[in-house]
Amino acid sequence: MSRVPTAVLMSGGGSNMDALLQAAATPGYPADIRLVVSNRPDAGGLAKARSRGVEAVVVDHRPFGANREAFEAALQDVLAARGIGFIALAGFMRILTPGFVSLWRGRMINIHPSLLPRFKGLDTHARALAAGDAEHGCTVHWVTPELDDGEIIAQARVPVLQDDDAHRLAARVLAEEHKLYRTALAAAVRSLTAAAP
Ligand code: GRF
Repeated sequence: MSRVPTAVLMSGGGSNMDALLQAAATPGYPADIRLVVSNRPDAGGLAKARSRGVEAVVVDHRPFGANREAFEAALQDVLAARGIGFIALAGFMRILTPGFVSLWRGRMINIHPSLLPRFKGLDTHARALAAGDAEHGCTVHWVTPELDDGEIIAQARVPVLQDDDAHRLAARVLAEEHKLYRTALAAAVRSLTAAAP
């Protein structure tokens, strides 16, 4: 089976991206992660990607102002020029328009730090604590136009401990994200290639 040319889109430290790059360097991994894109020039993940020998490109959203379509057209140009066939969002902090999402429907996944459908959006760890939840975790899902709403691929759970604060809870969830995302990306890409004619 040929490996699927894959891009990781991120905006920050890129620890999930780095976990995916490590996985993609192991024999038999179905995603060939050949590109990392950040919408922020100061994203720490850019240097991490380059240090692993992976091309890392900035498509800065700011020059486009409120014109999301123009930003996404620039992003699409970068992806198309590298023959990308699959996208893993990993801490990519831009809302994507329905047009871009439909272009990548069935070929784009995201990781979210909560047990969806609980706590869509931001501040998930503080919200899980405020709700008194006994359990929290992370979800990898297909991306659909509705935020954090697509079909779930995989989840990992952590118990909420008595002395947790949002920071400690986030760190334990993040460690699970790194393990979950590598297996979920592999499963998603394999499901795609299995379905291909
Ligand atoms: C992760 O918790 C991810 O689930 C969320 O943003 C965080 C990104 O962390 N969407 P990193 O950049 O992968 O370290």
